[in-house]
Amino acid sequence: MAVRHLLSIHDLSASEVASLFDLAKDIKAKPSRYTSSLSGQTLGMIFQKSSTRTRVSFEVGMFQLGGHALFLSSRDIQLGRGETVSDTAQVLSRYLDGIMARTFAHQDVLDLAAFGTIPIVNGLTDDLHPCQGLTDYFTLQEVFGDLAGRKIAYVGDGNNMVHSLLFGASKVGMDIAVATPKGYECNSHYLDLARQDAMAAGTSITAGHDPAAAVEGASAIYTDVWASMGQEEEAKQRLRDFDGFQVNRNLMAGALPEAVFLHCLPAHRGEEVSAAVADGPQSRIFDEAENRLHVQKAILVSLMGK
Ligand code: CP
Ligand code: NVA
Repeated sequence: MAVRHLLSIHDLSASEVASLFDLAKDIKAKPSRYTSSLSGQTLGMIFQKSSTRTRVSFEVGMFQLGGHALFLSSRDIQLGRGETVSDTAQVLSRYLDGIMARTFAHQDVLDLAAFGTIPIVNGLTDDLHPCQGLTDYFTLQEVFGDLAGRKIAYVGDGNNMVHSLLFGASKVGMDIAVATPKGYECNSHYLDLARQDAMAAGTSITAGHDPAAAVEGASAIYTDVWASMGQEEEAKQRLRDFDGFQVNRNLMAGALPEAVFLHCLPAHRGEEVSAAVADGPQSRIFDEAENRLHVQKAILVSLMGK
């Protein structure tokens, strides 16, 4: 049987996403049933970038499933000194049962999957953040039940986060509207692929530059940092270019009354989101963070469970 990976939500069918959410729901409700699911198995966690949620939720998740997780900072392993991704993948495949990797280049996780012989989970690249995107739709399903016909609005940078949200929307039957400043649009390759998925699923994708238009009729408003990891030197310029793209009470008021606010975190209050929204009654940011644990446990059991 071919090794299965989680590299992009694009690779999953709607029914695979639905099954994953059913499993995550069961794991969340009855964690004690899964304490031996991955007993004796080890997950390597390669990090080229910082992390709070991803590192902790994967490590705790493996522990709760009866397995073990190894934190492999690229600062410490030979990958950071120029050992190739292909050699790293082949060597680690001899020791580990799975790898979760957070990299700059998306090609690095594709290469881990191509050269390794164990499941690879994308823990964020410059292009995509599938574990977070899946968790966000799982969280919305907890809030609203069936998501078919609902709309999510993303306001902010055309980055890794929105690419995964674009892919996830059609899998759960949601429409998605994106508003970015000019010059910060989504990657056209991912947007085109997501549009093909949406067309096949009968959902819609709109991408423009008007936050007020994007949030109209939305059940969820999502934003992310204006400068992602690796873009630190652009942060000052971006602050100027993203003027008018803050999610604040005024923008929330343009969505449906029952709309919720989501953010993958870490957040910069006063920049992409006002404190009143991030910490207000419509915010679900900490449920979202918690759900990383449950959804990722479901991912690990699906990919690594015997
Ligand atoms: N949302 C998310 O992936 O957070 P970390 O960068 O803390 O892992
Ligand atoms: N877009 C952000 C997400 C962090 C979880 C980044 O890549 O830094």
